[in-house]
Amino acid sequence: MKISIVGAGYVGLATGVGFASMGHSVICVDVDAERVRKLNRGEPPIYEPMLEEHLRKALEENRFEATTELGRAIRQSEVIFICVGTPSKSDGSMDPVFIEQASRDIGQAMKDRGGYPVVTVKSTVVPGTTEGVVIPLLERNSGKRAGAGFGVCVNPEFLREGQALSDFFNPDRVIIGELDGRSGDTLHQLYRDFKCPILRTDLRTAEMIKYASNAFLAAKISFINEIGNICKRLGIDVYEVARGMGLDRRISPHFLNAGIGFGGSCFPKDVRALMAGRGSWGTSPGSWRP
Ligand SMILES: NC(=O)c1ccc[n+]([C@@H]2O[C@H](COP(=O)([O-])OP(=O)(O)OC[C@H]3O[C@@H](n4cnc5c(N)ncnc54)[C@H](O)[C@@H]3O)[C@@H](O)[C@H]2O)c1
Repeated sequence: MKISIVGAGYVGLATGVGFASMGHSVICVDVDAERVRKLNRGEPPIYEPMLEEHLRKALEENRFEATTELGRAIRQSEVIFICVGTPSKSDGSMDPVFIEQASRDIGQAMKDRGGYPVVTVKSTVVPGTTEGVVIPLLERNSGKRAGAGFGVCVNPEFLREGQALSDFFNPDRVIIGELDGRSGDTLHQLYRDFKCPILRTDLRTAEMIKYASNAFLAAKISFINEIGNICKRLGIDVYEVARGMGLDRRISPHFLNAGIGFGGSCFPKDVRALMAGRGSWGTSPGSWRP
């Protein structure tokens, strides 16, 4: 399949190199010209085990290219992944600025093409963003209707930094949020060789699965730290408690290590974004607008 990746950062690069290694034809688009030059020389701007080897092989076999020319990439792709960053605003809510720009640019580029390209949001976005922000910008800038002139999916990413490629090739699950069956079928086809459950949902359910997963893992880490504080006062070894708890299959030993708490590039920002949105929850479905 012909794939475009818009945003060649951590997620975009792992996804692009991963699909190229599986035999697909991938064009990674980024606004950072230096990043693009490096990628075309086979030099990943981040370190991940096996990333450089897979990138170089994909370049040699002409299955991977990086570019700043979004239009050319979009016009020839069947699936277009949006993988740009979704940083926090000062109040903790998600800043959609990069998502908005990417949606405008992709919409413009889709203007003069036919077919049914499936625009797929892989960035972590708060529930309602794809319907409330991405689709309107794509429609306005392309002059086409979602579900008629192009398809839309949400396909959240669960990879861990440091294991990005191995997580790409061996995910626990693939979540496909779909605007319509045709969009979902196209993405399902792309993931058909993955040996894991593939769950198909609507767009906002897929967006929420990502936030709920990260919030749950962050809560699990915070929980064992709270237990650790109690253990300390009682002279109990929290690591032994965690081992005893983790043997219960309903609990599992993962993310049950007492320590400095949760961190990294995603957990704090995603938990804050979920909390920032909670005041906007209404009583009717769909009333939380990003
Ligand atoms: N890093 C992770 O471990 C991880 C894991 C799962 C999900 N995510 C989510 O995936 C998304 C991307 O995260 P990341 O860590 O890869 O971000 P990143 O900052 O590493 O990469 C984003 C890239 O997008 C490029 N970009 C920005 N605007 C652009 C545009 N209009 N057109 C083309 N390129 C553009 C930037 O130059 C940058 O290279 C975020 O929503 C993040 O929350 C990240």
